[in-house]
Amino acid sequence: MTSVQNHPLLDPALRESALEIIARYPEGKQRSALLPMLHLVQSAEGYVTPHGVAFCAELLGITKAEVSAVATFYTMYKRRPTGDWLVSVCTNTMCGVSGGDKIFDTLKEYLGVGHNQTTPEGDITLEHAECLAACDYAPVVTVNYEFYDEMDADKTMSLVKALQNGERPQPSRGARLCTFKELSRQLAGFSEERDGVMGDGPAGAPTLAGNRVAEQYGISVPGFDPDTPIGSREQKPAEKPASAPKAASDSKPAGDGPVVQDPKGAKNA
Ligand code: FES
Repeated sequence: MTSVQNHPLLDPALRESALEIIARYPEGKQRSALLPMLHLVQSAEGYVTPHGVAFCAELLGITKAEVSAVATFYTMYKRRPTGDWLVSVCTNTMCGVSGGDKIFDTLKEYLGVGHNQTTPEGDITLEHAECLAACDYAPVVTVNYEFYDEMDADKTMSLVKALQNGERPQPSRGARLCTFKELSRQLAGFSEERDGVMGDGPAGAPTLAGNRVAEQYGISVPGFDPDTPIGSREQKPAEKPASAPKAASDSKPAGDGPVVQDPKGAKNA
């Protein structure tokens, strides 16, 4: 058990990191540092403890109730001890019908824990997740938010057993796998210094499928220029000139939707 003297939140290096986060924000706006600060306390304790709440409140000069209100709102802030490996199984519609429900049930039975629970050994936390924004690779599973695509129950069991054996299986794409505490420090805004931690590379074939079909059938958005600069907030939109309503025969028949061309280049009527 951690003694008071050895409590991770009393580590001077952690306090220094917290002050570094706070210093990133302009004078008078330091309370905005709360989100990365909560990740920082998770990097020390594995979840947001009452001590972590008090730590953030003290350094930011806000109440513990204000900190708790934020910590309980976002699902990435954990309120119970979390394992090194947070296994999230997408059970939303696309993944659920593609096998996500079966994956979750299989893990639940194997690990003996349910949603938002951690194994007695403390190594794995299981949760079911809403859409993980990777429906094109359904069903997906993430470990500490890194993706394992097109999974099934058997593949997920192999993944979990590898984690239990101390291995770190390479995710399907993106960065290399790290522990929940290591990840939390990254989310607090501190760069990772180990080799090979940055994910890179082009989008995968399922993600680009729609683009391929658009190219194949000559579908484009009229007037769209991908190099159009993004205007600043200060730029006011040009005022519309007053004009008389157009006659019905002049109006567009189908709005400003995409134009479909046949593959030979002639526009469809
Ligand atoms: S439904 Fe699973 S990633 Fe979207």
